[in-house]
Amino acid sequence: MKKNILICIVFACLSCNAQKNSTKQTSKKADNYSHQLNVEKKVDSLLRLMTLEEKVGQMNQYTGFWDATGPTPKSGDQAAIKYEHLKKGLVGSMLNVKGVNQVKALQKIAVEETRLGIPLIFGFDVIHGYKTISPVPLAESASWDLEAIKKSAQNAAEEAAAAGINWTFAPMVDISRDARWGRVMEGAGEDPYLGSKIAIARVKGFQGEDLSSPKTIAACAKHFAAYGFPEAGREYNTVDIGTSTLYNIVFPPFKAATEAGVKTFMNAFNILNNIPATGSKFLQRDILKEEWGFNGFIVSDWGSIGEMVPHGYAENNKHAAELAAKAGSDMDMESNAYVKELANLVKEGKVEESLVDDAVKRILTVKFELGLFEDPYRYCNEKNEKQVVGKQEFQNDALDIAKKSIVLLKNENNLLPLKKEHQNIAVIGALGNDKTSPLGNWVLAGENGSAVSVLEGLKEYKGNSITYAEGAKVAIPSSKLHFTQELDINETDTSGFADAIALAKQSDIVVMVLGEHGLQSGEARSRTNIDLPGVQQELLEEVYKVNKNIVLVLTNGRPLAIPWASEHIPAIVEAWQLGTQSGNAIAQVLYGDYNPSGKLPMTFPRGVGQVPIFYNNKNTGRPNVEVREEVFKSRYIDEVNAPLYPFGYGLSYTTFSYKNLKINKINAREIKVSVDLTNTGTVKGKEVTQLYIHDKFASVVRPLKELKGFELIELEPKQTQTIAFTLTEKELGFYTNTGEFMVEPGTFNVFVGGSSNTTLSSEFILE
Ligand code: BGC
Repeated sequence: MKKNILICIVFACLSCNAQKNSTKQTSKKADNYSHQLNVEKKVDSLLRLMTLEEKVGQMNQYTGFWDATGPTPKSGDQAAIKYEHLKKGLVGSMLNVKGVNQVKALQKIAVEETRLGIPLIFGFDVIHGYKTISPVPLAESASWDLEAIKKSAQNAAEEAAAAGINWTFAPMVDISRDARWGRVMEGAGEDPYLGSKIAIARVKGFQGEDLSSPKTIAACAKHFAAYGFPEAGREYNTVDIGTSTLYNIVFPPFKAATEAGVKTFMNAFNILNNIPATGSKFLQRDILKEEWGFNGFIVSDWGSIGEMVPHGYAENNKHAAELAAKAGSDMDMESNAYVKELANLVKEGKVEESLVDDAVKRILTVKFELGLFEDPYRYCNEKNEKQVVGKQEFQNDALDIAKKSIVLLKNENNLLPLKKEHQNIAVIGALGNDKTSPLGNWVLAGENGSAVSVLEGLKEYKGNSITYAEGAKVAIPSSKLHFTQELDINETDTSGFADAIALAKQSDIVVMVLGEHGLQSGEARSRTNIDLPGVQQELLEEVYKVNKNIVLVLTNGRPLAIPWASEHIPAIVEAWQLGTQSGNAIAQVLYGDYNPSGKLPMTFPRGVGQVPIFYNNKNTGRPNVEVREEVFKSRYIDEVNAPLYPFGYGLSYTTFSYKNLKINKINAREIKVSVDLTNTGTVKGKEVTQLYIHDKFASVVRPLKELKGFELIELEPKQTQTIAFTLTEKELGFYTNTGEFMVEPGTFNVFVGGSSNTTLSSEFILE
């Protein structure tokens, strides 16, 4: 074993000092400080031992380029070069390596064969679960249940860590208002307040209290910044937004993640106001590292350093490496730009070595904090992997959050819940019998076919009395579905309609499961139509002709435009892509064993022409009017301005009333708002009470409504509870166009209710 002796001596001395020191310290704060100091010292001494090439190596990340336990790559090919780099200590991190076996094999090379034996950090896209798949993040966000979201991230971390992973490329905290953009499934929706709370919950869930615990992993806030605002909703497209949107809408969840202690950031593919995010000193150094004091490291997005060449910002890969390093991108994911060019750039005097040192320190610090220096195989225990991955407890929690993520959009004449007896139920739609699509996109370790389908879930309740007809295929997938694959959407085949119609005729209720296939949203899945794909709308209308008792279960990773369904279909359930436990969760909601409580985290438009559409818009000088005679107003000539379903909207099997909205000034800059919430229906239910403000006039125009508080509460029938919110400067202020935070005196409206379109309001004057 070729372990470096020098490194061990240095660390042993430092550990002794640390021990001596730590016995003197009593408070936790002091302990943390001494731990931090200790890590800093270790990092500094290690850095002093490193050659320039080894330092640059730490800034280089490769994808899992071969099967670690399989054949050795042929010499001369890409994999062989990367393998050589690994042995020379020119790789600091790897991604897409799965399972203890593989991780261990590669870690062994880094630890035992390189000169300094610095362990690798293994990154992976654990976006909504590792093997046990939770609802897609947009769906989880619909729960507004921060504890459940945190738990979901915590389980994902524990499961991934048991499989050897140290670091997830999550949470994605990009705010987006554009349902055409496929990656909305991966975020928390359109609102910066909700998005920030969810960012904190996810970061805390993944990282826990102690990063060195083998149950926690480092998180990564991505994609910094403004990736969710691509022009025309087209993936990777230009972003050109004003500073007001940047500071007030885009930045808050990233800032919140930083304050929650997120260890890493990922930059973004897009240009932001003509500068690639990856090459933006403003974003990475000025805002993130300087202003917000972020002391973790920034990884580039996949190949995004090299992509500055086609962007027209860098002349070639070498120039791209120079720009990225100067701008503050600490680690290069798969551009091969740093490993090839950075050492030369330093030697030529184009990049200061101190910048390289800073990046390496940041990377090594996270490795220390993960406990990788103490034990590089900390996350590599086969027995533990077997016991933990897929364990029942994770399945239970996945079911719990799946139920909480469902949003009831419509329920005319209480068609729902279904009756457990004397109701003849047909399930129609290929997605109702699909065991892969409910997993959604970004499933890298979960297995195709591992989700409970809607049909299976319902049959669990009613045995074989549930009947099924496919009606029409949504996509014609190959047997090996993978997120790198294009789906072939069925635009023509209606041959299954006749059977479906015949079945619908004989049934009391038809549960139609329609929507997008799980791989129709996600990265590189922008759509210009956001209606029901393929022939599904036609199928729905045909079935409706013979049976109007339809419960439409929507499965999708983005808001869909379903105006016809919304007008005609009596019951609509938004079931997103709910992961492994999908069918069980849907069945519990349809049969009323779980009373739905989800609220939309993103506005549902009437048509794609309204996109981008979002609740926190401004008024214009000619405000929205629906009086058709007045022509010169801010509206469309062929559609109303209002969305189909607004942000924050969602029904329950019970009803709620809001009364006694009261405002009390605690002091000049602290306002207390309270309201009485009553369950006015006949069953127990949960409600998300939302508080919005409107700063009526200010030195920069403020949105008509801004979410500034919410509370999820369960009430028994007839029970009333007073819900109180406190508004402080944090909620009442805003960022000016130059990025200063301001609180201005003036009149504010306060709105409280169960959706962003609530009208219950009051006002106060801020002095
Ligand atoms: C995505 C990132 C992801 C990375 C690694 C990129 O294409 O934009 O979000 O983490 O790939 O898989």
